[in-house]
Amino acid sequence: MAHDPEAAAPPPVNRAWGGRFAQGPAEALQAINASIGFDHRLWRHDLAGSIAHARMLEATGIIPADDARAIVAGLEALARDWDAEGVPIEPDLEDIHMTVEAKLAQRIGPAAGRLHTARSRNDQVATSFRLWVRDAIDAHLARLEAFVRALATRAEAEADTILPGFTHLQVAQPVTLGHHLLAHAEAALRDIDRFREARRRLNRCPLGSAALAGTGFPIDRDMTAALLGFDGPTANSIDAVSDRDFALDYLFCAAQTALHLSRLAEEIVVWASQPFGFVVLPDAWSTGSSIMPQKRNPDAAELVRGHAGRILGLLAGLMATLKALPLAYAKDLQDDKEPVFTAHDLLDLSLAAMTGMLAEVTFDRAAMRRAAGRGHATATDLADWLVRTKGLPFREAHQLAGRAVRWAEAHGRELAELAPAELVAIDPRLEGAEAAPLSLEASVASRTSFGGTAPQRVRAAARAVLARLEPAA
Ligand code: ARG
Repeated sequence: MAHDPEAAAPPPVNRAWGGRFAQGPAEALQAINASIGFDHRLWRHDLAGSIAHARMLEATGIIPADDARAIVAGLEALARDWDAEGVPIEPDLEDIHMTVEAKLAQRIGPAAGRLHTARSRNDQVATSFRLWVRDAIDAHLARLEAFVRALATRAEAEADTILPGFTHLQVAQPVTLGHHLLAHAEAALRDIDRFREARRRLNRCPLGSAALAGTGFPIDRDMTAALLGFDGPTANSIDAVSDRDFALDYLFCAAQTALHLSRLAEEIVVWASQPFGFVVLPDAWSTGSSIMPQKRNPDAAELVRGHAGRILGLLAGLMATLKALPLAYAKDLQDDKEPVFTAHDLLDLSLAAMTGMLAEVTFDRAAMRRAAGRGHATATDLADWLVRTKGLPFREAHQLAGRAVRWAEAHGRELAELAPAELVAIDPRLEGAEAAPLSLEASVASRTSFGGTAPQRVRAAARAVLARLEPAA
């Protein structure tokens, strides 16, 4: 048979997948296809996954032991180099997985070609990305715990501090600042719980699912799962290479956390404004204006507020990418990483900034107390007193207290300041009402129901919050 020179010497197209191609990729294909520009962030996890895979290939006798050892040693050497120098970013190498393989081949020669036995980039990327997201969750958990600690610490110190409680941003009832701060701590504790739950759900190992159908090699999936700290292997190979629920779970947890932070950020912005004046941010957390010399702006709080919008957009974006994507792998899935990386970076900074601000902000107790003293904040206490002492149905008591407020307002007075004679003049049933807990301190002290704002409750709640940071055994 005649020798076909083309088959004997294929042009150098792509070392990893070029065998069936006679021509290299168009420039724009290479540009749109390459993910190394962002997925280099997976390098530690990709090396860890590859090391586990090589160990398993050795233990099962799928590849020769000396090749497996050379591969593991080579991968460990790459890890040391890249720790010191960073990952090489070469768009020709397409993504982090091909970079690992190419650099391993440069280091150890043809034995590197055995590493990709019984795996595909599809299970490889699913594994590396899960490992990355798991680490991201652990980092957020540490930051969230520091944030809750900061909240609880300041809350305990402000257990007696009077703050106007708002509904509709109108003065509603007096509360204690400690109680208000612990409201944010409760939200953060739920965020911690939600991240832990997401972590538990993602902790299954896709490695060994190969391209989509599994493999004919006698692999040991329990071994790779255990080596990588997973609770076990994923159960269906098609699902394992298609599923990005874990990325959406992560983004939802991040978005929810960011939304919570944005509500506190908004309060800091409002409270730092001159008409409120409840908080003063130290210089380290204030920015100036290039034109107005007097300004101290709460930029960090504003950016935490702003970042929340971006993070929830990233969640919506990845949901749109995944919607109606047929099983199993499609390259659209490569777009899963940037939203997660970006959300991680935004949330990490938001948590650091919020914890720092919170630890160092000065509360203006007098300003808070003054504001709580305006707006008849203890009108509910008067109604409650009428129920308790005069036996009125609450609805009637509400009406009567409302009339007292109207009278006080018309006379430019505060409800809590009304003299006994004035009260009786409004309605004889208000006789003795000066003994009702109409002062701000009496009002908060009376709210001793579980979960209420009384200072003694707040002190106990702050300690309980700290205790809840420890995960259940
Ligand atoms: N860079 C790819 C990604 O992030 C790796 C998987 C490539 N798989 C494939 N069948 N082309 O999704």
